[in-house]
This record gives sequence, C-alpha cells and structure tokens, in this order.
Amino acid sequence: MANEEGKRRAARAAMRFVEPGMTVGVGTGSTVAHFIDALAEVSNDIEAAVSSSEQSTRLLQERGIRVVDLNSTGELALYVDGADECDPQRCLIKGGGAALTREKIIAAASRQFVCIIDPSKRVEVLGKFPLPVEVIPMARSHVARALVLLGGQPVWRDGVVTDNGNWILDVHNLRITDPVGLEAEINQIVGVVTVGLFAARRADVVLTGEGD
Ligand code: 5RP
Repeated sequence: MANEEGKRRAARAAMRFVEPGMTVGVGTGSTVAHFIDALAEVSNDIEAAVSSSEQSTRLLQERGIRVVDLNSTGELALYVDGADECDPQRCLIKGGGAALTREKIIAAASRQFVCIIDPSKRVEVLGKFPLPVEVIPMARSHVARALVLLGGQPVWRDGVVTDNGNWILDVHNLRITDPVGLEAEINQIVGVVTVGLFAARRADVVLTGEGD
C-alpha cells in the first residue's frame, strides 16, 4: 500500500476515538493533516482542538475548528498524532517535523494517546530514523558532545527554528534497545529541551492503516 494511502487510512481509523463534545489534542505532520481533514467533517460536534504546532493550528483554523490553549482545558481525553518510528512496545521516535516539545506536552496531558502511522514506520528497534533533540541554541555544541559520548552522531538541522525558538539536533547511528533509559539519560543533559523519544509516555493505541 502506498504510504499516503496508509496515512489516510490510519487517520480515518482514529475518528472512532473522537466523541461528541470532545476537545481533541492534535499532533503535527502529513498523517495528522489527513486526521484534521476527517475532523473537519465533524467540526460541529466537537468542542475544540489543542494544537501541537503553528502548522497544525493553521490547518485546523482553515477548516473551521476552534483552537484553544492547553492551559484552559484541563486534562484531555484524547491526543492523536503521527510518528517517525514505532516499535512493538509502542515506543516512538517523533520530531521529524520539529514539533516534538509541544507534542510531548499534549501527550503527557492526555488520557489516551492514539498514534497514526503508515506501515513503513513500524520497526523492531528504534533508531534508524535519526533521533531529534530540541536544544536551547547556546547549548547546541555542549549537547552535541554529550550525545557523542552516548554513542550517537548528532547533526544540526541547520536553518530550522522550532515554534519555541530553539534548534534541533538529529542523532544518527543509535540502536535504541532501552528507549525509557535513553529518554531519561538525554533528558538529563543540560540544554536539552525535549528528546523525541516517546517511551515513558508512549502511545496507548497504534493504528497502522493496513487491514482493518
Ligand atoms: C512532527 C512529528 C510527526 O508526527 C512525524 O514527523 C511524522 O510525520 P508524518 O506524518 O508527516 O510522516 O513527530 O514533529
């Protein structure tokens, strides 16, 4: 199945978790764009959305979905987002679209995290996709050196500034057999804002857009 069709099917399947009156947490990316299209069809039935990026905010508002601040909603019942890789334990690499920090915040603030991916994102061991790490700009070199000590090869995503005004390092050559441990370890490096490993708070449900 073409990746795009897999993304569309996974996004449509996530609609079964959307209930009337909900404020839905919405991730970022091309798979989520399909979900926003589907959500627009029920825009009158849902309360609002909490958005994880300026990009998704624009898409939501263009489709007539009200976007509200997470500080005004309390805990969310549902968060729907894509991923760059997903292992069999539902641990994820995210941040290919540089929205990892806000995505992680909404995931943490949601009771259910439904991850929508096309089948190509499934892996046995995370790490083939370079692991994004959002850093405070002045700490870029310091964090990069610490990541080398952990066995990775960090590459600065030159020219990319996150919605939070920070920079991204993409860490190559990692074979992540202990996602929870590595997430905690990278979180400890001073200057790291967010690591794109979603393991401590992983997906609750993964929809891959294949079969039923
Ligand atoms: C953005 C993300 C996305 O969920 C991830 O990059 C997948 O994107 P796509 O659905 O376009 O393949 O983490 O920060």
